Amino acid sequence: MGSRPDSATGTIAPDGGVTVAPQRRRLAWWRLRSWRQDVEVLARVRDGPEPAIAAIRQTFASVEAAGDEGIAYFYARLFVASPELRELFPAAMDEQRDRLFRALTRIVDSLSSPEELASYLMQLGRDHRKYSVEPSMYEKVGTALVATLRKFAGADFTPEAEEAWVQVYTAASALMIRGAEDGSGAAPACWSAEVVEHERSDSGIAMLTVAPDEPLRYEAGQHVTVQTRRWPRVWRPYSIACRPREDGLIRLHVKAVPGGWVSNALVHHTSPGDEIILGPAMGTMTMGAAEDRDLLCIAGGTGLSPVKAIAEQAVRQSATAPGQQVFLFYGARSRDELYDLRDLWRLSDAYAGLQLTPVTSQDPAFDGMQGNVGRVAARYMPHKDCEAYVAGPVSMVRETIRVLVKAGIARDRIHFDDALLATRKRVGSGT
Ligand SMILES: Cc1cc2nc3c(=O)[nH]c(=O)nc-3n(C[C@H](O)[C@H](O)[C@H](O)COP(=O)(O)OP(=O)(O)OC[C@H]3O[C@@H](n4cnc5c(N)ncnc54)[C@H](O)[C@@H]3O)c2cc1C
Ligand code: HEM
Repeated sequence: MGSRPDSATGTIAPDGGVTVAPQRRRLAWWRLRSWRQDVEVLARVRDGPEPAIAAIRQTFASVEAAGDEGIAYFYARLFVASPELRELFPAAMDEQRDRLFRALTRIVDSLSSPEELASYLMQLGRDHRKYSVEPSMYEKVGTALVATLRKFAGADFTPEAEEAWVQVYTAASALMIRGAEDGSGAAPACWSAEVVEHERSDSGIAMLTVAPDEPLRYEAGQHVTVQTRRWPRVWRPYSIACRPREDGLIRLHVKAVPGGWVSNALVHHTSPGDEIILGPAMGTMTMGAAEDRDLLCIAGGTGLSPVKAIAEQAVRQSATAPGQQVFLFYGARSRDELYDLRDLWRLSDAYAGLQLTPVTSQDPAFDGMQGNVGRVAARYMPHKDCEAYVAGPVSMVRETIRVLVKAGIARDRIHFDDALLATRKRVGSGT
């Protein structure tokens, strides 16, 4: 977007009356804006007295109600107007193609602090380098977005609603472009990684160890996107299952989803020696906020992956700052699906501060805690002054947040991977 379609002036980002002449915009319009200014625009739309956020939600809901037709219209508009963009996207545009749309509503909807919001968008912009996205493309995407909203929201797409979308989209684009620019000198757009180990658990989950060709920096709790040779340009996010290691190796836990493209390629058609491609690390579920507070870690299924990385990191940090306790609740339907229990016991044996509680929800024979892992954790957590980390299927994460808040943990002390909210269906696997 960037320019109002009904305006021949090329006015960009009607933010506080700032107007950027078209020729300057072509130079680098986003450099005329500050990081803080973009964050403030987003916060204003979210919190403002005007019903801008309601207009965004309502008009987006109309596109959503149109289902695949709405998304198909958006991409048709985009590719007819700018056919050169088609080759950036996967050959088969699958059902995850609404992610870009959903990310836009999430921007105004769910991120609580401006700093986190900016950090997410800058990560997303850095991540878009792997798609070969250029700054000039943002306006093309924005124009297709406005056309789609206008078509499906009809009379609800008022000038005020359009204004709100323009503001949000322009601010988000500026942050993304800035993130991409900042990242371009420091790291590659993506990494080639050799699979050095591929183990399959009894429950069919594959645990891969991969060696990136260049150092891939990340924090415990983050995820990377993965592309396999089998499915060019198809990327899926997978959490990193280990703390950053001195040898640079990365572990991934992958559950094959029936009919799933990338998960089946990774579980059934990948062996040591194969190469996969990794995008940059993303995600705001990191340990920064915890300071020296105890950690309450709750994982369902392969949600164990980022939670294990966080637990490992806490154990490592305990060497220099002892005293931090880690309460790890790990849930699955049955004992078989607690696929990494042996290694977790090893970790807890090595560190007295790690208290591990396995939980099953549908295995009466299991000799341990029974029930929904989030509720078990809320009931048996030793105290409320913890920093909580939650990962697993979206429904499990939502339910766990609900019960933790009810049990007295402050909402801003509960962390999960924001990318989960961008998914339409279930995410992660397991329980
Ligand atoms: C932040 C984040 C971290 C993630 N981390 C992990 C991880 O560590 N390990 C892991 O295994 N997965 C993880 N996922 C899920 C992963 O990104 C993929 O969505 C999953 O592997 C399916 O991809 P696919 O290409 O195989 O399936 P697709 O081709 O995308 O989907 C094929 C079919 O399966 C359905 N489907 C998709 N996902 C699921 C699901 N989870 N359960 C049931 N049906 C589904 C789809 O609706 C579709 O019908 C994570 C997701 C997010 C957002
Ligand atoms: C504010 C603007 C934008 C937002 C919020 C946004 C958001 C997103 C998100 C959340 C994803 C999914 C990423 C993932 O799950 O890893 C995505 C994918 C993608 N985006 Fe963007 N995006 C924006 C602009 C653009 C632009 C300008 C282009 C250029 C054409 C672009 C091209 C792509 C491509 C090619 C994909 C991969 C799609 C796929 O795998 O099916 N995006 N975007």
